Amino acid sequence: MIDYDSFLSRAGEQMQASLIRRMGTLLAENRDLISFAPGYPAHETFLWAEFRTIARDLLSGQDGDVLQYGPTRGFRPLLDLLIGIMAARGVATSADRLLVTTGSQQGLDLIARVLLDPGDVVLVELPTYTGAITAFRNVQGQMAGVPQEADGIDLAALDEVYLRLVAAGRRVRLLYLVPNFQNPTGLLIGQAKRRRLLEWAERRNVLIVEDDPYRELYFEDSACEADVRPMKADDVEGRVIYLSSFSKTLAPGYRVAWIDAPAALSAKLEVAKQAEDLCTGGLDQRMVYEAAHRGILDRQIPVLRKHYQAKRDVMVEALRREFGSSVSWPAPRGGFFLWATLPEAIDADHLSARALRHGVIYVAGDAFFVDDVRLPGKAQPAPEERAGRNLIRLSFSAPPHDRIRQGVARLAGAVREELAALRDPRDRPAPAGQAAR
Ligand SMILES: Cc1ncc(COP(=O)(O)O)c(C=O)c1O
Repeated sequence: MIDYDSFLSRAGEQMQASLIRRMGTLLAENRDLISFAPGYPAHETFLWAEFRTIARDLLSGQDGDVLQYGPTRGFRPLLDLLIGIMAARGVATSADRLLVTTGSQQGLDLIARVLLDPGDVVLVELPTYTGAITAFRNVQGQMAGVPQEADGIDLAALDEVYLRLVAAGRRVRLLYLVPNFQNPTGLLIGQAKRRRLLEWAERRNVLIVEDDPYRELYFEDSACEADVRPMKADDVEGRVIYLSSFSKTLAPGYRVAWIDAPAALSAKLEVAKQAEDLCTGGLDQRMVYEAAHRGILDRQIPVLRKHYQAKRDVMVEALRREFGSSVSWPAPRGGFFLWATLPEAIDADHLSARALRHGVIYVAGDAFFVDDVRLPGKAQPAPEERAGRNLIRLSFSAPPHDRIRQGVARLAGAVREELAALRDPRDRPAPAGQAAR
């Protein structure tokens, strides 16, 4: 028997599968489960007929390049199209700044590889996106969390955390932000705060990673174009590395996304990408390019806004009906997520096993909280004070309306049972949120 663990690198030893990806597997294995866990787009929004036509045209056999290796930077017509997409978002860019990536997840991985040494610190919002946590941890970066307010990351706390880190001799390299409909909270960073964040980054000489997959999906009843203007649009100095993706608008299966970074960084990211996959799939890039070029994407975006807004409404109504005022959340103004606070007594991780038995899954809040840096004099929270303990992320994007209603009813059943069990400890299940971890 070979002990494969003894062959692992130090980085390899620390790599952990994402909890959310594993929940995707659970879902695939159990058809009756209602999943509020992974942030999947709705199947019913996929444009099968349009994609079939494009695929038929592309695979007519007239153009060998369709199935050939392509340039690492990306398929040139797609790069040109991205310049137009960025212009519509208020950002003047050029092909030497752009890099097409295999999902934004690869973009995060490339940024981590190119910009972080082991022990370097990334400042993140608390809570933050789990895929970014994985990417930064894989290169042994460390994350320091900064709390959020209703209009996004707390600037005063940000500077305080930064100064404490620097005083402790730590190298702070990046500030990672999801300004539009953050994963997991759904929050938007206010426009005034975005400008102050840019000023802060200049003053402290930190680069900003702006991760923006949800910006097109604002709900017209409560947000508009002006609210989602990226920080990159006001980045005169070249301090922002911007990422966006076609995953949430066309389909994540294509794995087509992009980075817009200052040209010198973009060149480095390109070299790093060569080691990972040489280039993003040429057929995928052409599928996405054609969908945008033929006007299909532009027609689809308003449809998606309405689709997800309606699902948000269904989830909000169901939560109000089932939970009354015992559960609260910041109103999602776009995106896929609702960030709910359960009654104080509930431990969301512990509740997962019971919820699973009721046929519903979600992501327990503590998956999104990270604070790797131990500074002298900083108290360790007691285990029962775990950050995010009674918080859950509910994705309303994928299930149809009736399943959302049913799922929230199942969740309410699990919460009622859990509260009763807490009053009568003989009824407690074995601690098993961990079963999914
Ligand atoms: C904030 C954030 N960044 C990046 C990604 C990854 O997107 P992609 O499918 O482009 O890899 C996601 C996906 O859920 C996300 O929520």
